[in-house]
Amino acid sequence: MWTFKELSELIKLKLGDRLLIVVSNREPYVNIFDGEDVKYYVPPGGLVTALEPIMEASGGYWVAQATGEADAMVVNEKNELNCPPDNPAYTLKRIFLSKEEETGYYYNFSNGGLWPLCHIAYIRPKFTERDYKIYKAVQEKFANAIVEIVQDRPAFVFIQDYHFANLAQILKGKLKNIITAQFWHIPWPNSEVLRILPFKEELLNGMLHNDLLAFQVQYHAINFLDTINRFLEARVEYDTFTVTKDLHSTMVRSFPIGIDFEQVSVLSSSKKIIDLRNELITKYRLKDKMVAIGVDRIDYTKGILERFMAVDLLLQRYPEYIGKFVYVQLGALSRMQIQEYRLLNDKLNDLMVAINDKYQLKGWRPIVFIRANHSQEIINAWNGIADISLVTSLHDGMNLVAKEFVATKNDTEGVLILSEFTGAARELTDAVLVNPYHVDGLVEALKLALEMPVEEQHRRLSKMREILKKQNIYRWAAKILSEILNFEFNESES
Ligand code: F6P
Repeated sequence: MWTFKELSELIKLKLGDRLLIVVSNREPYVNIFDGEDVKYYVPPGGLVTALEPIMEASGGYWVAQATGEADAMVVNEKNELNCPPDNPAYTLKRIFLSKEEETGYYYNFSNGGLWPLCHIAYIRPKFTERDYKIYKAVQEKFANAIVEIVQDRPAFVFIQDYHFANLAQILKGKLKNIITAQFWHIPWPNSEVLRILPFKEELLNGMLHNDLLAFQVQYHAINFLDTINRFLEARVEYDTFTVTKDLHSTMVRSFPIGIDFEQVSVLSSSKKIIDLRNELITKYRLKDKMVAIGVDRIDYTKGILERFMAVDLLLQRYPEYIGKFVYVQLGALSRMQIQEYRLLNDKLNDLMVAINDKYQLKGWRPIVFIRANHSQEIINAWNGIADISLVTSLHDGMNLVAKEFVATKNDTEGVLILSEFTGAARELTDAVLVNPYHVDGLVEALKLALEMPVEEQHRRLSKMREILKKQNIYRWAAKILSEILNFEFNESES
């Protein structure tokens, strides 16, 4: 099993004098005011959880957008600060954007355009010339900050996600001694879907300046090759998963992202978490109740409405669960400047109120909806309480929430209900797999989970835990680094 220590050693040995720079839109720590004081929180989403261990293992720089109201208060004159705040191991360089830049680059082009385009959740993507210009200008700003760090040193720049499709090209125009890899955390659609993107030739060409382009699953990597084949003059080799354009070759690969299994598992057995679980059970009156949990950013791709509908239908179809079953939804508010997200929030609220009204008994309601940015500890405690985890994304690159639920269950009791449209479903085949568009099917999956014999729960969870223990986040990082830095990945070590 790959560990933090092994990865650190590997990075030191193989990176040599190359500097490691991770670039993502989302920063790992956000500073906010607490009265006169400044405190921090860790933002929701899988990306931060996944990259922090790599940064801690490697040192180096993490370049990301400044998003907290108090972010400027804690940085030095280079807009840098040491992270993690309690135990510094690397440098975070914050990029401050104007309102106009944030709107054009983050809200409009990345999350109003590329996000719905890649997820195919039937929300219409919007693209404008103006937003694309801002999207590129912001990447130029990130590139300049990276140039300032790197100067003429050799560096490996590890770019994250769809916010930076042109970044490798911009960087390679400014720096000679760098290698770049880009990990696309979200799905890559088929070429017919991608066809509607007005700036596709330029954007795809930009991506091909990477030395390695990595996706969550093989299917997305194949979709990418097909897209290039269809829209660019380039040599696409399906047998070696390589694209060559203008004498430069890009390796296209899939590396399913993992979690720090040991850390989640150990945390879940700690006294602090066990006490927290008891507090939550008392606070929400969950003693003797069957509990299902959903943990999401509030996003239309996550299938949260479908879950609420399934709870309604479950109680209608199987009234014996009235008063005995509770669905707890932890929801972090997200991207609220975008209309679809605001509408979803309102719809969720209305539906929850209607369902709770319809069934509530004295001291019991079927849906508990806690809208907040929850800490890793709170999520771990809720996962520990839950008999069932409901992950019903309409489409998802991976979904680490599902993996964290499995890692929490040290006693191998519990059931994961997982959308077949998540990357995680390719590895976690012992989950109860569902099509979230089929709410009737979700209801039957819930019933199956509620009545699943404990031996069956043990069998399924043990198998999934074995997989996740092995395919952890350190192995993911080691595999990517081995591919890009050309050293041998020793499978037997993992
Ligand atoms: O995994 C996709 C992703 O966009 C990440 O890049 C991001 O950290 C996460 O979802 C949360 O989204 P956002 O950063 O827009 O809040």
